[in-house]
Amino acid sequence: MAPALLELTGVIVRFDSLVALNDVRFAVPAGGVTALIGPNGAGKTTCFNVVSGLQRATAGRVWFNGREITNLPPHRRAGIGRTFQIAQVFGDMTVLENVLVGVHPHLNGGVIAAGLWMPTVRRQEFWAAARAAELLRRVGLADVAERQARTLSLGQQRLLELARALAADPQLILLDEAASGLSPAETEAVVEHVRALRADGRTVLLVEHNMRFVHRLAEHLVVLNYGRVIYEGPADEGVRDPAVIAAYLGTALTHARV
Ligand SMILES: Nc1ncnc2c1ncn2[C@@H]1O[C@H](COP(=O)(O)OP(=O)(O)OP(=O)(O)O)[C@@H](O)[C@H]1O
Ligand SMILES: [Mg+2]
Repeated sequence: MAPALLELTGVIVRFDSLVALNDVRFAVPAGGVTALIGPNGAGKTTCFNVVSGLQRATAGRVWFNGREITNLPPHRRAGIGRTFQIAQVFGDMTVLENVLVGVHPHLNGGVIAAGLWMPTVRRQEFWAAARAAELLRRVGLADVAERQARTLSLGQQRLLELARALAADPQLILLDEAASGLSPAETEAVVEHVRALRADGRTVLLVEHNMRFVHRLAEHLVVLNYGRVIYEGPADEGVRDPAVIAAYLGTALTHARV
């Protein structure tokens, strides 16, 4: 197995009396696609929130690239990008501006220079706009760059989130149900984008209920049930694992779409 890019050890997240993550430990190998699956409420999104810094772990540690990131705020977790289960775009901004939000934290110059419209800032603005435009081309949204984001379809909003997440050039990208609510054609586009990310050398960790989607993309599988990891290993073996099948009884069938 490739060395781990991301590793969680003994992670616990408690919400009052509810233990959403209970001693979660798993590793995400560098350079491939790992799927994190499990029934509704298993703790998948909470896990993503812990990795991206939106949720503090009650206990346990998170490692990225050999460095502990457990207590770092989200903006100091360089190299990790994500999308959200419920697409989060800025509806009043244009599609291009939404991507620029992702590009800007990486620019130097600061507020004062920006206020004075210094030549360096102008160059950076030019660079940022070019980069955002290129990302939109990449996800197939170049034609709608000037539209307000709220006018996009759900499928387009998910692609816009992906472009914004890629703006920071992350090594690891977390996709929380990126294909949920999409048509078969839109789902196919997401599959191709995930493959392109892998071909780029990025590492993808995805949450997905659609088992066919998982089966086609992931080499490595982590299964959560009631906040605990019940399987970690090769994806093809995981889908045949009796404990995984038992956890999914009744839910996998309702979620199978493609
Ligand atoms: N901020 C919160 N406060 C209290 N409870 C929470 C909070 N966030 C999540 N939970 C609870 O933690 C558990 C795990 O939720 P989580 O959203 O991580 O599950 P999930 O595996 O992503 O589920 P789904 O497949 O439905 O998206 C659930 O019981 C949920 O209700
Ligand atoms: Mg979720």
